[in-house]
Formats: sequence, structure tokens, C-alpha cells
Amino acid sequence: MPPSRLLRDRDYTQFACLPVCQTSDENARENSPITETTCQKRAMFQRMKFAALERRLTRAYKDRLAALGAVPKGVFWRNQSTQIARFDAMLSIVRKISPVAHPAVADIGCGYGALLEFIQKTPRYQTMRYSGYDINAAMISACTDQFADQKELFAVGKYPSGAVDFCLFSGTFNLCHTTNLDLWEDYIFANLQDCWQRSRYGLVLNLLCAPKSHIKNQIFYADRQKFITRASRLFGPTHAVSTPHVTGDVTFAIAKP
Ligand SMILES: C[S@@+](CC[C@H](N)C(=O)[O-])C[C@H]1O[C@@H](n2cnc3c(N)ncnc32)[C@H](O)[C@@H]1O
Repeated sequence: MPPSRLLRDRDYTQFACLPVCQTSDENARENSPITETTCQKRAMFQRMKFAALERRLTRAYKDRLAALGAVPKGVFWRNQSTQIARFDAMLSIVRKISPVAHPAVADIGCGYGALLEFIQKTPRYQTMRYSGYDINAAMISACTDQFADQKELFAVGKYPSGAVDFCLFSGTFNLCHTTNLDLWEDYIFANLQDCWQRSRYGLVLNLLCAPKSHIKNQIFYADRQKFITRASRLFGPTHAVSTPHVTGDVTFAIAKP
């Protein structure tokens, strides 16, 4: 096979299928060559698996919202204080690391828009420029109902429609509706990758963490160090702090140099 048809570790970044080939492919782990076609087929297969995951997630969130309404429990939070504590942890990091005074933040997995309400009510965050995205059209309808004069701030999607300063994810990857840990971790990193490309300064997200990554009752628990290692390898220096007032939750910041 001519050398140009061989992909080795270092070359994967050139291709759209980066997450699947760079992170979860057995051949890549063993450092053996794979072809571009193999990589593209695997990427396509993985996209189909991701789409199936999203259909299950969308159904679960839609049913929950219909049953409980636009309140913390309606997006599976235990209560409002842990929801707000997560927002505060993320935004205080943005304030600390942002090189610009009024950062544009994209809330990926915005649910019914609770983060915008928190930003508008909290003087130290009020000058942040907000946009919210969610894969679930029912969630976006709840946002546009609640913020009827700011509808343009919300859209169905998994990444911002244009460049922003930071992408934020609060609880976005907790509920997973799969028992396949590798698949879920790959899904998270594929989503972060899409947002990384559209973020000027970085990503801030929270995950529930445990000593060993696992999925229990459809909730994903990350291994803090394993997440840092993979995020640092794919993106850059990654820092973690235990989310104040939320047991087991960790807020991660991945900043561009
Ligand atoms: C636990 S809720 C949290 C909602 C909101 N961040 C909050 O704290 O109130 C997670 C939300 O993320 C959305 N979501 C899940 N995966 C997503 C993805 N890959 N991209 C965008 N939204 C996603 C779900 O539809 C759901 O509305």
C-alpha cells in the first residue's frame, strides 16, 4: 500500500473522523496502520450509533419535561441548589480565565434555559453574552416560551452556530441511555471536539465522577484522571475542581493556550 494510504497515530488529525480513529480504534491503540477507507467506515458506523443514542436521550428528556415541566426536576436535577451550584462553578471559572471582559458563552445542553435566568439575575455574570443549544426541540421550545423576547438566543443543535469564547456543558453528559462505556466516552469527546473548533478560549463542563468510570442506572460517572488525560491529549491542558456544594461532581476547564 502506498504510504499516502496509510494512517498512523500522528496523521489522524487531518481527517473528519478524528475521534473514532484517534481514540477508540483498536488498531490505533496497537499502533498498527489502518486505511483511510477503514477510518471513514468506522466513523460512519459510529455516527449511526451516536444518532441512535441521541434518539433515546431525546425521548427520555422530552417525556420528563412533559411530565414535570420547566423546573430542575424536569431535566433530572435533584433540586435547584445543585443546578445553580454547578452554574456558579462554571461561570466563576470563565470569569477567572477569560481574556475578554464580556465573554460570549454557548450553553450546550441548555435544557429549558435555567443558565440564562441565572446569568441575568447574578450581577457578576450579567455582562456575559449568552446563547443556548440543545439537541431536544422540546427543550428549545421551553426556552423560547420562557424568553419570548429573546428567542434568537436559542437553537436546536450540539454546537454553536458561530464562534464563541467558551462552550459550557452543565449536566449534558450525565444521562446516557447506554451501557457501553467506551461508546459514551467517545460520544462525549466527539461533542467536545465539535465545540472546541468553535470556541476561541476553551470549554468548561461538569461530570459526575467516581474512582473508576462506570454507568449505573443510565447515569455516567467519569474517572477524573482518565478524563483529564484524554482531554489533555486531544485538546490541551485540562484542570479539574470538585464542584463546590455538589457531592461527586467535578468541573473541568480546558483552555486554549
Ligand atoms: C441534565 S439536562 C441539563 C440542562 C441544563 N444544562 C441545566 O443545567 O438546567 C441535559 C440537557 O442536555 C441536552 N443534551 C444532551 N446531550 C446533548 C448534546 N450532545 N448536545 C446538546 N444538548 C444535549 C439534553 O437534551 C438536556 O436538555
